[in-house]
Amino acid sequence: MFKRNRRLRETRNIRDLVRETILTPADFVFPIFVVEGENIKEEVSSMPGTYHFSLDRLHEVIEEVEEAGLRGVILFGLPDHKDEVGCGSYDNDGIVQRAVKKVREISKDLFIITDVCMCQYTSHGHCGILEGSRVDNDKSLKYIAEIALSQARAGSDMIAPSDMMDGHVAAIRSILDDNGFTNISIMGYSAKYSSAFYGPFREAANSSPKFGDRKTYQMDPANIREAMREIDCDIEEGADIIMVKPALSYLDVIRWARDRHDVPVAAYSVSGEFAMVKAAAKQGLVDEKAIAMEMHLSMKRAGADMIITYYALDLCRWLREKM
Ligand code: PBG
Repeated sequence: MFKRNRRLRETRNIRDLVRETILTPADFVFPIFVVEGENIKEEVSSMPGTYHFSLDRLHEVIEEVEEAGLRGVILFGLPDHKDEVGCGSYDNDGIVQRAVKKVREISKDLFIITDVCMCQYTSHGHCGILEGSRVDNDKSLKYIAEIALSQARAGSDMIAPSDMMDGHVAAIRSILDDNGFTNISIMGYSAKYSSAFYGPFREAANSSPKFGDRKTYQMDPANIREAMREIDCDIEEGADIIMVKPALSYLDVIRWARDRHDVPVAAYSVSGEFAMVKAAAKQGLVDEKAIAMEMHLSMKRAGADMIITYYALDLCRWLREKM
C-alpha cells in the first residue's frame, strides 16, 4: 500500500487548484534610482532594464509601474555632491526629497518607500559618520533621524533604514512622532548581511566604500540567531515591517523570521541576484522567465509578505501572460 501523490498533479487545472503559493503584482516593490540633471534615462550596465532617471523623466517609469499593477516603489537618490557627513541625504531639497514630491505629483496613491542611508551621499562611501576610520554609531543616529524626517516632510509613506546602526529604528520613530508624523511607518532592513550580492547596486548607486568594508555594521552571512536578535530589536524599537536582505541565499532567515514574529516580513532580492540571472539569460544558459518566477516564488514560500525586486515589472508582465 502506498500513497498516490501524483493524482493531484495530473492536469493543469488540479495543479492550479492545490497550489499553495501564488505571486501577484501586489507582492512586489520596484526600486528606482533618481539622479540630478535633465533628460536622463540611462541603463545601469550590470543591471539590464534598470535605469537612472532624472526627475523630468520619472513619469515614464512611474506610469509603467502603475500600469503593471504594482502598489509601491522604493526610491534611491544619487546626489551630485558628496561630503564627509553626507549633507545631501537630509537636505529638504535633496534629490530623494524632490523625487518623492515628483512621484506624488504623478501618482496620487502609489505607496512611496524611501531608503535611509548615507553611503550614496558620503565622500567615504560608508553608511554613517566616521570617527577616525570607524563608523560612529551614536553620531550616525542623529543624521539618520534627520534623513528620515526630511523624507517624511517630502511625503514619503514609509521610511526604510538600511544603515545597520544600532538603535536606528528608535531614533527614527522618536523624531517622526515628535514632529507629528505618527502615521508614517518604518520598515527596518533588520537582517541585512554584509553580502557580495550588492556589487551591481554599488555601481548603480555609486556607493562603494572608499576604504575597508561594511563588516563592522552589516551582518556576517554565517549567522542566523544573530539575525533574530537584530529583528527583535527593530520590532521592539517600533518597526512596522522587518526585512531580510539579500533574499535568495537567505530563505532560511526569512522562514525563521516568519515563524517567530507576526509583523509583515519583506525580502529584498538584491542587485546581484538580478544581475546573475540577466547575465546567464543573455548567454542563453537559463530560461529567464522560469528562473525569475521560481526565485520569487521561493521567497514567498519561505514566508515573505512582500518582495523588493528589480524584476517587479518583468514579473507583472509574465503574470499577465499566464492568466
Ligand atoms: C545602502 C543600500 C545597499 C543596498 C540597498 N541599500 C547597498 C549596501 O549596503 O552596500 C543594496 C541593494 C542591492 O544590492 O540591490 N546601504
